[in-house]
Amino acid sequence: MHTSVLLNETIEFLNIKPDGFYVDGTLGLGGHAEAIAKKLGPHGRLLGLDVDHQNLAAAERRLQPLGNLTRTRQVNFRGLQGALAAEGWKGADGMLFDLGVASSQLEDPARGLSFQADGPLDMRLDPSTGKTALQVLHTVRERELEEALREFGEERNAKRLSRSILFELSAGRLKTTGELARLCERVVGRHGKTHPATRVFLMLRCMVNDEMGALDDLLAAAPACLNLRGRLAIISFHSLEDRRVKEKFRSLAKSPSGEKRFSLVTKKPIGPSSDEMRENPRSRSAKMRVLERVA
Ligand SMILES: C[S@@+](CC[C@H](N)C(=O)[O-])C[C@H]1O[C@@H](n2cnc3c(N)ncnc32)[C@H](O)[C@@H]1O
Repeated sequence: MHTSVLLNETIEFLNIKPDGFYVDGTLGLGGHAEAIAKKLGPHGRLLGLDVDHQNLAAAERRLQPLGNLTRTRQVNFRGLQGALAAEGWKGADGMLFDLGVASSQLEDPARGLSFQADGPLDMRLDPSTGKTALQVLHTVRERELEEALREFGEERNAKRLSRSILFELSAGRLKTTGELARLCERVVGRHGKTHPATRVFLMLRCMVNDEMGALDDLLAAAPACLNLRGRLAIISFHSLEDRRVKEKFRSLAKSPSGEKRFSLVTKKPIGPSSDEMRENPRSRSAKMRVLERVA
């Protein structure tokens, strides 16, 4: 299961036209996609993309009652332009990217995405391709790991953590999520509410799936895929993502010379209500920013 975050806000801010063409670039279990498609008339269309074939299959089952209003593809959103071209679309009237992972992925121990349950150190969102987290750790240099940990907020512990991770790895004692979580507890200790492995797991997941690289490619490509008055909504869950989205949207909305092509629909990010935070604690860190093509 996965509870879609900022669902009402997404529908409101996408300002859906019944005969418009929409993209959900992070289909997940299809919660946002279903809500968008239900606003469409017979000439509207929704294209759903996801790298994870299990989520894609679950979303397809959910969207089936909506008939030919929806189409899905197993595509990384960094290939957005190609996916639109393959559908014969020149552009989209609205696009949503709800970044990160779905609860269905986090809660499956076999995916190795969570320190809450023991599983292999895999972390690939598309398990059919690329290197697992364990393979990535076997190729990374200590310095590189240390810098990545700093980037993800482990300022004080980056050196000790990277050294211990690579030491345990070379001794053959680091193969599972449980082993990595316990190592983080030993090295960092437990202070406050956040588990000491939280940032290490986030960093590794981002490395394994090149999540920041994919987001940069998306931000470079997506604005040009919007039709006039089309809207691009991005929901992020941590500051490294949100900073990229904020900077790109702001620079697009500035027009130092000539015609203004994009405008910020949200001057400040939209966050969850206190009710949503209570009902779905995962929504706490969500921030949605929306951009519109105005010329
Ligand atoms: C937070 S979930 C989306 C949940 C969805 N909005 C819903 O309501 O069910 C994010 C989804 O995006 C997918 N994903 C992450 N990075 C991706 C990428 N670069 N390209 C395509 N899909 C991606 C994940 O596999 C996951 O299924």
